[in-house]
Amino acid sequence: MITIKSEREIELMRESGALVARTLDMLGEQIQPGMSTKRLDELAEQFIRDNHGVPSFLNYVPKGEVGVTPYPATLCVSLNEEVVHGVPSAKRIVREGDIVSVDCGVYMGGYHGDAARTFMLGDVAPEVRQLVRETEECLYRGIAQAIAGNRLGDVSSAIEEHARSFGYSVIENMVGHGIGSELHEDPAVPNYGRRNTGVKLRAGMTLAIEPMIALGRSRRAVSKRGAWVAVTEDGKPSAHFEHTIAVREGAAEVLTLSPAGRA
Ligand code: MF3
Ligand code: CO
Repeated sequence: MITIKSEREIELMRESGALVARTLDMLGEQIQPGMSTKRLDELAEQFIRDNHGVPSFLNYVPKGEVGVTPYPATLCVSLNEEVVHGVPSAKRIVREGDIVSVDCGVYMGGYHGDAARTFMLGDVAPEVRQLVRETEECLYRGIAQAIAGNRLGDVSSAIEEHARSFGYSVIENMVGHGIGSELHEDPAVPNYGRRNTGVKLRAGMTLAIEPMIALGRSRRAVSKRGAWVAVTEDGKPSAHFEHTIAVREGAAEVLTLSPAGRA
C-alpha cells in the first residue's frame, strides 16, 4: 500500500532528511585516504545522535527475509566494485583513487530520511569519475519525473535511458523505495522501466530514488551467503546516489538536499 503523507508528515520528513544531508556533508569534509570505513561510521553515528536522531539502518532486519543478521552499523560504505550495503570495518581503509559510496538513514520524529552519495578520493580514473558524475545526473533525471500525474515508469525510464546513453549497466536487483514511518515502504522504485507505465504518482507520496549504475556489464549485485555487501558480477566499479523526495505538483521536493546546495 502506498501512503500519502500530509503536509505535517512531510515537514517531519524534511527534518530527518536535513539531518541526513548534514551528516553526508560532514562525512564529505572528513573523508580522506587512510581512514577506515569504521571511523566514518563512528563519526556519522555520533553526529546523528548529537543532533537528536537515530540511525535508521542500525539493527535493521529486512522484511520477509530469514536468517539475515540485523544490519550492524549506521552507514553503508561501499567501495569501488561494491554496489551497496558495505558494512563498515576497522580493517577496510579508503585509498586514493577509490570511489566510496556512503548511504545514510536517519529516524527522527517518527519518520525516516535516506540518502547516498559517492565520494571520489583524489586521483580517480577519468572513466570512473564520469560514471560517478553521470550516476548523480541519473538521480536528478529521475527526480525531475517524480511529479504528480506522471507514472513511476517515467522516473525509472529517465534513469535507465541516461545510464544507457553512456553504455553503463543498471543494477536491476537493487531498487529505490517508498519511505516514511518505515524505511522501506511501497512502491519499489526500479532504476529501469518503460515510460507511461506503473502506478500514477500523487502529491504526498514520498520516495527514496537511488540509482546504482556500473561500468561493465553486470546487471545484478551479488552477495556471498550470509554477507551484507553486494558487488558487481564482473568486478567493475559501481556508483550510487540517493535522495528522499516528496512528489508534488509541478516539481518534486527533495527532502535530503544539502544546505550547501546540490550535492
Ligand atoms: N538505502 C539503502 C536501502 O534503502 C540502505 C539500506 S541499509 C539497511 O536499501 F541496513 F537498512 F538495509
Ligand atoms: Co534507500
